[in-house]
Amino acid sequence: MQRLDKYLSEAGAASRRELKALLRAGAVCVNGRVVTDGSAKIDENTDTVSLHDEVVEGRRRVVLLMYKPAGYVTSTDDPRDETVMTLLSERWKKQAVAPVGRLDKVTEGLLLLTNDGVLAHRLISPKYRIEKDYYAEHEGEAGPDDAEAFRDGLVLGDGSQCLPAKLDPLGPGRSRVTVVEGKYHQVRRMLASRGMPVTYLRRDREGSLTLEGMRPGEIRELTPEEVAGLDEACGILNAGRENT
Ligand code: URA
Repeated sequence: MQRLDKYLSEAGAASRRELKALLRAGAVCVNGRVVTDGSAKIDENTDTVSLHDEVVEGRRRVVLLMYKPAGYVTSTDDPRDETVMTLLSERWKKQAVAPVGRLDKVTEGLLLLTNDGVLAHRLISPKYRIEKDYYAEHEGEAGPDDAEAFRDGLVLGDGSQCLPAKLDPLGPGRSRVTVVEGKYHQVRRMLASRGMPVTYLRRDREGSLTLEGMRPGEIRELTPEEVAGLDEACGILNAGRENT
């Protein structure tokens, strides 16, 4: 159960102040009946709330998968650059999703966005060992020594220690890198530390999710099964939470 005014403001229907006027004017109905008292309790699972005869969907748990194009910064707000949020439709913005971790402005690829803070935190945390796969183009050619150094855990230029990672050389100037953490510019710095500065970087996989069938700029909502897979990987027990 939840207060009607809280439900409406969390759903992005109107601000708390605007709502007062809308309620007074009889614009809000619960199950087809006008309700003017914002403190009235509603059951968000069974009651239908409408504003000016349009059903207002409550805030629900949302996980989006974006194929991030180059040229956008991964943040909710930026004074200079366009953010990935500008690629979202109003529908998703209203659900208050935010990016999970970061991709550099010039990096392309798989970016998750969610309004579930616990899930976001665990997807990033090295504790849950969620693998992230990157396709990298770089100077030089990676060899067995480089793969071994990645496996052992690299030490970056600033002295920070990386967890063991995987480097698969794909031929001259191309490699696949798999990491379970997300330090600042991590993959670029890892390859640079082996004398192979990166010229192109794309994240292709996070956990069991890939970009299959998607093009840069595309966004889709994960299916309940995909969200359940993420929950399981992150040790989240979701008996009482909704995925849909
Ligand atoms: N590592 C990087 O260096 N950049 C990214 O955008 C992601 C991982």
